[in-house]
Amino acid sequence: MSGVVTVNTNPYEGQKPGTSGLRKKVKVFLQENYTENFVQSILDANKDAIVGSTLVVGGDGRYLVKEVVDKIIKISAGNGVAKLMVGQNGILSTPAVSHLIRKYKTIGGIILTASHNPGGINNDFGIKFNCANGGPAPDGTTNRIYDISTTIKQYKIVPDIACDITKVGVQKFKVEDREFVVEIIDPVQDYVDYMKEIFDFPKIKSLLQGSDQRPPFKILIDSMNGVTGPYVRRVFITELGASEGSVTRTTPLEDFGGAHPDPNLTYAADLVNAVKNGDYDFGAAFDGDGDRNMIIGRDAFFVTPSDSLAVLANHLHHIPYFRGGVRGLARSMPTAAAVDRVAQAMGLEMFQVPTGWKYFGNLMDAGRLSLCGEESFGTGSDHVREKDGLWAALAWLSVLAVAGKSVRELLEQHWRQFGRNYFTRYDYEECPSDPCNEMMSELERRMTSPGFVGSTHKSGDKTYTVEVADNFSYMDPVDRSVAMKQGLRIVFTDGSRVVYRLSGTGSSGATVRLYIDSYEAKDVLGDAQVMLKPLVDLALELAQLRKYTGRDAPTVIT
Ligand code: G1P
Ligand code: ZN
Repeated sequence: MSGVVTVNTNPYEGQKPGTSGLRKKVKVFLQENYTENFVQSILDANKDAIVGSTLVVGGDGRYLVKEVVDKIIKISAGNGVAKLMVGQNGILSTPAVSHLIRKYKTIGGIILTASHNPGGINNDFGIKFNCANGGPAPDGTTNRIYDISTTIKQYKIVPDIACDITKVGVQKFKVEDREFVVEIIDPVQDYVDYMKEIFDFPKIKSLLQGSDQRPPFKILIDSMNGVTGPYVRRVFITELGASEGSVTRTTPLEDFGGAHPDPNLTYAADLVNAVKNGDYDFGAAFDGDGDRNMIIGRDAFFVTPSDSLAVLANHLHHIPYFRGGVRGLARSMPTAAAVDRVAQAMGLEMFQVPTGWKYFGNLMDAGRLSLCGEESFGTGSDHVREKDGLWAALAWLSVLAVAGKSVRELLEQHWRQFGRNYFTRYDYEECPSDPCNEMMSELERRMTSPGFVGSTHKSGDKTYTVEVADNFSYMDPVDRSVAMKQGLRIVFTDGSRVVYRLSGTGSSGATVRLYIDSYEAKDVLGDAQVMLKPLVDLALELAQLRKYTGRDAPTVIT
């Protein structure tokens, strides 16, 4: 029998969850009691439900996941949790956690990830709490966790529980007069079973293998040394019969092999080059924790996430899961408005929420939202309450299997039907914080001064007139909670738009994001960077971005 020990501690500053959980450098989490404080704060924020409860625990395989899983096991035991479901070796993708919470009706889960941020001892770690609906905790809960962390004095732990997380199976411990159970689960099985319900696997399999009418469809799936590796192997190799050469970087590594596990044109350049120089019809990459995706076609034809959302929305009925009907569609505010046109054509409700997946959850729970996405390589549906990278790749293959077209042909057909929202995003990563904050407040002051709305601005051969200028705020239509100051937005009379935000997921300094979106009804085959140049120049000028960030060029252009 093991006993509960109450340990005295002092609060740390800054344990405030950002866009998606608490993310800091590994060294911050290694400070004495730093991790323990935050885990105890999570449990305390749920204190009415915690005794006798079940929680799901797992992470993306990065450095420190196993050690923190061990701490969570011991602290959960100390707080009266009845059962933990833990991914073997601490491995669980973010969408898989969301699914497990829902399937086994647990009160929530703790995900150990810093998503697409680099891993290893000198890089990032993160802890995120998801609620009983499987989704990231809403602002009310994360604020409560933070408040508790600022006054925490003690945590409760059972130090001598020795749990072996390498073996699948149930381990039982006696904690004082209670039983505490840890079930180590196969991280992949439940998730893959679910994907087989959602999609028509035989149809995707015959696309990949080819038929009398169609040559084999050649794919390259890149897990970027992140958590999706084992999921990708089971789905594509075991279930869909793809060859070893169809998958790459499928072993989760603590430092992601030194890669920045973010599936975009810059950090997934290996995939882009492999598809460009090889004989592939389709490429997909996923981030460290498996919720983001990038889709490319033959010759590395790039599908912007905003377009990906719109194309999937237009073809959802090809996926068995949606045969019962499609509810509403949604996107985050900075995401280009391509999907809005599909919603209109289909007569569906359309929502525009702030950045961050947590804002989609209420709409899904209320049965008003089926498919949603963010420009930041996030696509997903109400099958779980997280975005889901592997799901997005399977959704694309399902649509391609029916359409009988290449990725490029499908996009071009879409643009001819709906017109095209050209989109680009500029990221200025890890800039000095003070000048960036000053830039944002100065810009907001100007934008909201009298006379800004209605003012005209010349750039290149274009003239833009401001129609709307605001700091985006959102009222959740379900619980009527309000999220303020979600990004500076300037909309021009021709419908084009520039948006400025500071990232809420960085672990040091300030990351400025600039989003540019402009609609063309007819001229749909242009190059986005060329088409958007006047608007980009204007956006840089309006905010005096070069001056405040001290940067001539962004770190990443999407
Ligand atoms: C970024 C993305 C946002 C996404 C989040 C978590 O947040 O912009 O769309 O939901 O990562 O993946 P940001 O750093 O911009 O706050
Ligand atoms: Zn992620």
